[in-house]
Amino acid sequence: MSALVPAADAAIARIDKARTLLAEAKSMIEVKQVIDMAAAAEVYAKRQKLSDEAIGYAHSIKIDALTRLGEMLKAGPKHEGGRPAQKTGSVVEPVSSPPTLAELGIDKKVSMVAQQLANLPDDMRQAVAKREATISQARKQVSEKQRADDLARPTETVLPVGIHRGDFRELAHMIPDDSVELVFTDPPYDEDSVELYEAAAKEAARILKPGGSMIAYSGQRHLPAVLAGMSKHLRYWWTIAGVHEGGNQMLQKLGIRCGWKPLVWFVKGTRGDVQNVLLDVVRGDREKFAHAWQQSQAEAEYYIRELCSEGGTVVDFFLGGGTTAAACEATGRRCIGFEVDASAIENAAKRLAA
Ligand SMILES: C[S@@+](CC[C@H](N)C(=O)[O-])C[C@H]1O[C@@H](n2cnc3c(N)ncnc32)[C@H](O)[C@@H]1O
Repeated sequence: MSALVPAADAAIARIDKARTLLAEAKSMIEVKQVIDMAAAAEVYAKRQKLSDEAIGYAHSIKIDALTRLGEMLKAGPKHEGGRPAQKTGSVVEPVSSPPTLAELGIDKKVSMVAQQLANLPDDMRQAVAKREATISQARKQVSEKQRADDLARPTETVLPVGIHRGDFRELAHMIPDDSVELVFTDPPYDEDSVELYEAAAKEAARILKPGGSMIAYSGQRHLPAVLAGMSKHLRYWWTIAGVHEGGNQMLQKLGIRCGWKPLVWFVKGTRGDVQNVLLDVVRGDREKFAHAWQQSQAEAEYYIRELCSEGGTVVDFFLGGGTTAAACEATGRRCIGFEVDASAIENAAKRLAA
């Protein structure tokens, strides 16, 4: 144990020296020397099984030095690929230019890591310096946050928020590209309506912001065809179980008493908000006052709250009795809804007015 103390002292002294040199460094070559010193000290500290503190100290100086190099590379001209040459008459003269990265002993990997560090926000870079995250974990978190922020950025929609009477396939083109955070919808479940799922997914792929979600109720019977049609346009993410609280439905011909319904979840690209963990079982009350096929408002509210930011836009291509619109109203989101049936629209309008 006593033999470890001088080793620790020697390592700390070397790291202190590297830190001082970094503070004074003006050129890339000096910074590169610090990177090499700190990296060697880190390896040494690990081999000698020194304290976590000593290893962490060397690591943090190495990360600081790499970051400085990354900043210098970003600010200065690129040297990779050799020096340019200058023509004087017919004679080609070498231009007096700074040394290339290769001449400085900075290989492509070091240069790439340095620039990645310089591009990280301060908090993520500190997490890397403290060994709480690797550079690739930090970069992944940054890009996920970027996607989530892009998704939440408000955009104007041309089609007014509210209920639109008619077939969504004829009207939804008025919604601009990449302007909607969530499509929450409930098409009819019969075999003839399977094609509507694909048409809805196609439109959703256009209007959703990258990372936006489409959730559609579906019956179990034609689920394979529904998934196949929607998968042509969006990325399948998950199937949610909506559990019937109002009693199970007897399907005599199939010999099944059905106690749940699928909500298929698709995403445009990939979810940027995976830190937001969602439940895949929802329970809602039986509500049939506005439409014979009415769904639970609590179910809609849950996914709207989680997958659309406040003030953001939700689209329902099959509005029925207006459950999605009512859920948007209750949660402070904007809803654009389509419905072909005039009496359903009347009920939905009354419901919203109430
Ligand atoms: C299952 S219901 C929706 C019920 C709704 N989720 C609710 O809670 O009241 C489906 C609705 O889609 C409407 N519909 C069917 N085809 C449509 C289309 N191409 N465009 C717009 N609405 C359509 C039907 O008239 C019906 O009211």
